[in-house]
Amino acid sequence: MTPPSREPHPDSRPNPRPEVVAGAATGASAGAGAPGDERRPWRRRHLLDVASLSREEIEFLFETARSFREVSTRSVKKVPALRGRVVVNLFYEPSTRTRISFTLAAQRLSADVVDFNGETSSVKKGETLLDTARNIIAMGVDTVVLRHPAPGAPQFLSERVQACVINAGDGAHAHPTQGLLDLFTVIDKLGSVENKRIAIVGDIRHSRVARSDMWAFLRFGAKVVLVGPPTLVPSSLRDIGVDVSYSLDEVLPEVDVLCLLRIQSERQEQGLFPSLEEYSRLFGLNSERMRRARPDVLVLHPGPINRGIEITPEVADGPRSAILEQVTNGLAVRMAALYLTAGGDA
Ligand code: NCD
Repeated sequence: MTPPSREPHPDSRPNPRPEVVAGAATGASAGAGAPGDERRPWRRRHLLDVASLSREEIEFLFETARSFREVSTRSVKKVPALRGRVVVNLFYEPSTRTRISFTLAAQRLSADVVDFNGETSSVKKGETLLDTARNIIAMGVDTVVLRHPAPGAPQFLSERVQACVINAGDGAHAHPTQGLLDLFTVIDKLGSVENKRIAIVGDIRHSRVARSDMWAFLRFGAKVVLVGPPTLVPSSLRDIGVDVSYSLDEVLPEVDVLCLLRIQSERQEQGLFPSLEEYSRLFGLNSERMRRARPDVLVLHPGPINRGIEITPEVADGPRSAILEQVTNGLAVRMAALYLTAGGDA
């Protein structure tokens, strides 16, 4: 795991628009949350992982996200919070949800957004990540949202550039905004995750979502069990305080939340499980398994879904699925992440 980034925010001027912080959209005053306030729990310029975030930081981010969520329900879905700032989406891996979510989040905060696609850029001509980033930042970019196949790439960049860096997924290491939006969604639906049993099911080994989810849920007192074939669930993860099970059917009746994961075929070495059919038979969530789960079980999936492999369409589109709520909440959580890392004083 990356070490905590605890650098103080360089700009601690009082916020000229305190109404946009925590409670902004609801009209509440910023109070103890304003950037100039020393009691303000959020002081980071970068969001690199969940493991290094304190519960207070996450709660503050959620409070901010809740006030921003209201903005998305208005007919004019914009606040001036980041007017004049520039956000670049630097994506070296495919993405649908995360990229669009960051773009819309930045636009709703009135920032200018630029999209960078590793497939069609000078990366093809041999340019390094650092050179690409430095050149983009030389054009006046304030925040870099980075998705990269190499674990640690966002941390590497954050140590070398002036801009704020938000990790949008680095290899199998971390996907902090996904972990945060998953926790946000579960708290929203269940009130709390304290002592709730949460199963994360599937390709844990290659999943940055699983790594961010488990830290987020553990920080808020949940009991986490990782479920999947032995080859895809590293038992060493027990060391951070999670349980491990190789049988979905065993844990199914006890869990309050099922977080399903996609098999990361693009990160798999060959032969970690016999076939997708077998995986689906043993670990796929279908209507029959749902009948054996708690009637109020909550089903999450970060997307993209492989229908018929880890989840059947009836379950994905069924009444216990919170998959689209995750997407909606993701926008608010990313607005909060962009806003707080920017210092909230645009
Ligand atoms: C995930 C990712 O890219 O890590 N998707 C996402 O961000 N919503 C999960 C996946 O690709 O399976």
